[in-house]
Amino acid sequence: MKNIYKNSPKNLNKAKKLLRKNNIIVVPTETVYGLAGNAYSNSSIKKIYKLKKRPKINPLIIHYSNIESLKKDAHIDEKFIKLYKKFSPGPLTYILRKRKNSKISPLANANLKTIAVRFPKNKIIRTLLKKLKFPLAIPSANISSAISPVSCNDVLDEFGKKIKFVLDGGSAKIGLESTVINLYGKTQILRPGLITKNQISQVLNKKIKIQKKTDKIISPGLLKRHYSPGIPVKLNCKTKEDKAAFIVFGKKYKNNNKDIFNLSKSGDLEEAARKLYKTFRKIKNLGFKTINVVKIPNKKIGIAINDRLRKAAN
Ligand code: TXA
Ligand code: MG
Repeated sequence: MKNIYKNSPKNLNKAKKLLRKNNIIVVPTETVYGLAGNAYSNSSIKKIYKLKKRPKINPLIIHYSNIESLKKDAHIDEKFIKLYKKFSPGPLTYILRKRKNSKISPLANANLKTIAVRFPKNKIIRTLLKKLKFPLAIPSANISSAISPVSCNDVLDEFGKKIKFVLDGGSAKIGLESTVINLYGKTQILRPGLITKNQISQVLNKKIKIQKKTDKIISPGLLKRHYSPGIPVKLNCKTKEDKAAFIVFGKKYKNNNKDIFNLSKSGDLEEAARKLYKTFRKIKNLGFKTINVVKIPNKKIGIAINDRLRKAAN
């Protein structure tokens, strides 16, 4: 496809030029593909919101290559340093207090006192970030409230010809969005991901909770309906309804029918996470009208899988 570009020094330079002119491109990360734009530019940020049809109250994650470049934009503390040393670069996003003189466009963080920041691990996006003099705002590359893309084809499925430049990074390694942890005010997890509550609790030597539905919404990504394949999703099913697509997990379901989709025959939760959005997209494109899902173990990344499933079912 014409608008998909392989990872090469020439194409990374092309990407850099487009971003410097405040254009939006699609980039791979280890979690999901994202729509990237200059975080210091109002016009870039406006383009991102418009492309995604995203409500302006839902702030973006700002992506950096290292801690030094972050210091101009956010206040950092001991908790942040501890977590950064252990988990960054990687699939962890921190909510920090924004500096008053930061150049981050206020449109990127919905005019809040805080900004969300992440240091992605994927080599292609890291190399690109190192070439730039500004950080990148990178939300997932999907239309607001739909499923995140985990490959170049998924991006085209979402945006078609509206996207002129996609950097090809193959299939996303993790397949679910980063864990989001709030470090301003009450330390708590706003969005579960591969890095779990227990791993974070251990590093901070403090019990951490996942924000409850009833708490005040400070992360609009926690809005109830999200990550939706666009057809009804029913959870914790023991058997399949007539005509539904059935998403299953584990060796009990080895005999694949054309309406049975096993997230991991060996019962591997990380494999299931990697396949979840791909499976949703496949089922939707095959024309099924409903999805049934079996119960998924609620441990490790299974907690994040269940979080996304609940929101898809809403
Ligand atoms: O894995 C990821 O984090 C991917 C890749 C592309 O890096 N990005 C991603 O971005 O998932 P997005 O925009 O789809 O989700 C960002 C989440 C939303 O739930 C948003 O509400 C929350 O982060 N968020 C951003 N800024 C925030 C802030 N200042 N306070 C609270 N939540 C914030
Ligand atoms: Mg998203």
